Amino acid sequence: MISDWINVADAEREGEAKLEQGPRDYFAGGAGDELTLRENVAAWGHWRLRPRVLNDVREVSTRTELLGKPAEMPVLVAPVAYQRLAHPEAETGMAKGAAAAGTAMCVSTLSTTRPAEVAAAAPGGRHWFQLYPFRDAGVTRALMDEAIDAGFEAILVTADAPPGGNRERDRRNRFALPRELGTPSLTAATGGERALTIEETFALMNHALTWDDVSDLASQCSIPVFVKGLVTAEDAALALEHGAAGVLVSNHGGRQLDRCLATADALPEVAETLEGRGTLLVDGGIRRGVDVATALTLGADAVLVGRPALWGLAAAGREGVAAVLGLLRAELELTLALCGCTSPAELTRAHVRRAPVPSVYSV
Ligand SMILES: Cc1cc2nc3c(=O)[nH]c(=O)nc-3n(C[C@H](O)[C@H](O)[C@H](O)COP(=O)(O)O)c2cc1C
Repeated sequence: MISDWINVADAEREGEAKLEQGPRDYFAGGAGDELTLRENVAAWGHWRLRPRVLNDVREVSTRTELLGKPAEMPVLVAPVAYQRLAHPEAETGMAKGAAAAGTAMCVSTLSTTRPAEVAAAAPGGRHWFQLYPFRDAGVTRALMDEAIDAGFEAILVTADAPPGGNRERDRRNRFALPRELGTPSLTAATGGERALTIEETFALMNHALTWDDVSDLASQCSIPVFVKGLVTAEDAALALEHGAAGVLVSNHGGRQLDRCLATADALPEVAETLEGRGTLLVDGGIRRGVDVATALTLGADAVLVGRPALWGLAAAGREGVAAVLGLLRAELELTLALCGCTSPAELTRAHVRRAPVPSVYSV
């Protein structure tokens, strides 16, 4: 029960218990040996905070700005495909939960709900769109236009897929989408008559994407374009050179390249290279408010959470999503106070250092 949750792990247990093995493994799993999946979580714990004391912390707020507009906290909901597998409320439940928590939700290209429906379900909410470019540029354009017309605020172009990673749990389970579950925007954009399978969908995507495509998308798009799914300083610099408004340091939650650098380890080099240019986001393994605080000390403007929000959705629909986000917000608020900060903006690189002893975490 939501009222019993004291941390995100409680939502995880309850959400996972509600799912059958196929969807559960699809959501929880990663690529290959799942080393990156585990290390994403563990790597936040390889940093130690350097709290400052005796600052008046009676008034502490997690409020921040996202794309120039206020948000209750620097935590957004990451794009996650096929949310109807988790709960009948699907993406509308996720959007309502995010809106209730005062933050933005990023809708996947592989959404089981159309952007306009998501926006209508959470009219006070803020919505971003994750874009997989397709070989047919007309399909890509139609998807983008649909999100822009629905009032979405930003486009996140995913750069670390296709091809899809080696998800061995799904292969072992012979996981396939239920026949009735579709991606209506994609079906409309491709002019198809039936829902596409995961394999068919990935086959239609553009596997030949280059930085020039980022330039083209950014120059043709009326809202900011971010590159999602890079972990190096070199690629972050290229993203900005090619017109991106910012980057999302991400390895797709460990679902693509196993043994990819954990995002907590990648973030410092990206922050150093960007030197405050563009918006810097990070996702992967964020499970605690203290992880959010660590990401901010390492230079992120905000973080995204994928599976935590999904567990909330699976466990209790929109209320579960809002509850998970609320737990992260409360933990962040306490962490700020204990670091001697009254707002996320007060956290700096001086508040963190690498753990002084070899980590006790095993991954
Ligand atoms: C089940 C699942 C589906 C996902 N689907 C997408 C997607 O459609 N597009 C995308 O860019 N990222 C997708 N991601 C990656 C997330 O956007 C995000 O990078 C990742 O979940 C962050 O790690 P976390 O789950 O540890 O928070 C997906 C992740 C999961 C777990």
